Amino acid sequence: MLRTHTCGELRLSHVNQTVSLTGWVQRLRDKGSLLWIDLRDRYGITQLILEEGSTDATLMAAAKNLGREFVIKATGVVKERMAKNDKMPTGEIELKVTELIVLNAAKTPPFTIEDETDGGDELRMKYRYLDLRRAPVRESLLLRHKMAQQTRIYLDSLNFTEVETPVLIKSTPEGARDFVVPSRVHHGEFYALPQSPQTFKQLLMVSGFDRYYQIVKCFRDEDLRADRQPEFTQIDCEMAFITQEDILNTFEGLVRHLFKTVKGIELPEVPRMRYDDAMKYYGSDKPDIRFDMKFFNLKESGVADLTSGKNFQVFDNAELVVGICAQGCAEYTRKQLDELTEFVKRPQIGAKGLVYVQCKADGTFKSSVDKFYSADDLATWANGFNAQPGDLLLIMAGETDSTRKQLNELRLLMGEKLGLRDKNKFAALWVLDFPLLEWNEETKRFHAMHHPFTLPKPEDIPLLETNPGKVRANAYDMVLNGSEIGGGSIRIHDRATQQMMFNHLGFTEEEAKKQFGFLMEAFEYGAPPHGGIAFGFDRLCALFGGSDSIRDYIAFPKNNAGRDMMIDTPSTISEDQLKELGIQIRN
Ligand code: AMO
Repeated sequence: MLRTHTCGELRLSHVNQTVSLTGWVQRLRDKGSLLWIDLRDRYGITQLILEEGSTDATLMAAAKNLGREFVIKATGVVKERMAKNDKMPTGEIELKVTELIVLNAAKTPPFTIEDETDGGDELRMKYRYLDLRRAPVRESLLLRHKMAQQTRIYLDSLNFTEVETPVLIKSTPEGARDFVVPSRVHHGEFYALPQSPQTFKQLLMVSGFDRYYQIVKCFRDEDLRADRQPEFTQIDCEMAFITQEDILNTFEGLVRHLFKTVKGIELPEVPRMRYDDAMKYYGSDKPDIRFDMKFFNLKESGVADLTSGKNFQVFDNAELVVGICAQGCAEYTRKQLDELTEFVKRPQIGAKGLVYVQCKADGTFKSSVDKFYSADDLATWANGFNAQPGDLLLIMAGETDSTRKQLNELRLLMGEKLGLRDKNKFAALWVLDFPLLEWNEETKRFHAMHHPFTLPKPEDIPLLETNPGKVRANAYDMVLNGSEIGGGSIRIHDRATQQMMFNHLGFTEEEAKKQFGFLMEAFEYGAPPHGGIAFGFDRLCALFGGSDSIRDYIAFPKNNAGRDMMIDTPSTISEDQLKELGIQIRN
């Protein structure tokens, strides 16, 4: 090694030792007769010192010519510092340099390589290899490494086998578009990159592997968001001879193991909620249960109809009237209330309006619907919401599904405003009993909500003929702080049921055979009952690290337009390559 120690290692116990360090020049402070250099490597920063008089004059002159990010080797004697820095682990010592070798010069970097940088997003993406030198970015990748290690330790301890599945495959329907790769040998034919290894892991169960996992890249050509990348990583798992309960317990165990070993947190037992209840009480299939603020339905048939018959057409005509209680917000000003209304009316949310009721501290009420509802009516509402004096009721009305979604957005906003979404607090949740199918307005047919290999609940199978939207599946998601971190299901494992499912999804027998004949055939050779789950590894890392963006946890991510700014791709390819692939580009 060129070095004897790392830049994060030296302490008072090393004083008077002669050592060599290597690294990058983070900062130079030249006071004329004194020169300090902050030398950085992945382990930390050590201060080097050169002093006129006691340091050789040529060495001093050479050091003054160093620039930021030069790569150097410094040899010298460890000294106790006069002015100690208790913010740095190496802050009690410095290295009195006796020899300095420039291993490589560097151009001035386009942004400062420090914890707080002056570089904007795009610039840092373009020079990602420099951004990765910064401690916070490096820490994120180290966290990811630790998570991957612990995942392997846990799954290995339970006899899971890691198996690699191919990347050049045929389309797997996970609901997004495929990235495709043209074949040179077979013109006009394409591979698809896997949206997940779904069919392969099921085939491994047929092969008898019993317990499979893989930390694996998946590719989905979909619109990007902070928590979505076109290529991302899953902890993909499958088990045979199990029930849903076994899967929930095994993978709740994984998440708890990760919390314990990576963050030192004992995660309590993960609560479970049915999909229907998640939608009813939170308007979302991934409720953030770090805070309560459950929905209250003011017009639930058979339970309460607290709004009809008072000439307020908006509520009278609505399928659903539903609200939340924001504790301690009764004194919101007109301006603040208008802002909330504007928020729900934004096109992304699409509500027509918002009704509020201020439950004043003196027991009176003030609302935007005072014209229609008496103080007694409002008191009954407040009672239904379990509201206390000082609370604010926020109520929305309209078609059930859209109103729930809109109120979910408002609930999350109020949670944020009230400081109830603390990044250092973790609340996991299982959401169970997802619908098997969901109606797609564009294609005017039912699609698989999870994927077409999911087993319907046996007792709901008759509904496939009469009311397909009501069929529930043994499908589950794990939600952490309102983010979907994993999803899976118990699978179909016989040809007849799989064929029936494809029929219901609108595949002709011919199409199903062409796309998935291999799987259906495998089911005829002794397929065990099986099921599994896949976790979004990048999302899990981001949540553990307290970030909203998964990009920080990916070494070389794409930007919001799906572009890698550093290597500048997607990009055109040469005429020769196109010709070889048999591809003609028409403008
Ligand atoms: P699913 O499609 O639910 O299931 O994906 C599993 C998890 O992967 C994460 N995820 C993503 N993360 C980042 N960027 C994306 N574009 C992205 N898309 C999904 C989510 C999600 O919960 N084969 C099934 C699993 C199974 O049934 O076993 C599957 O892929 O956190």
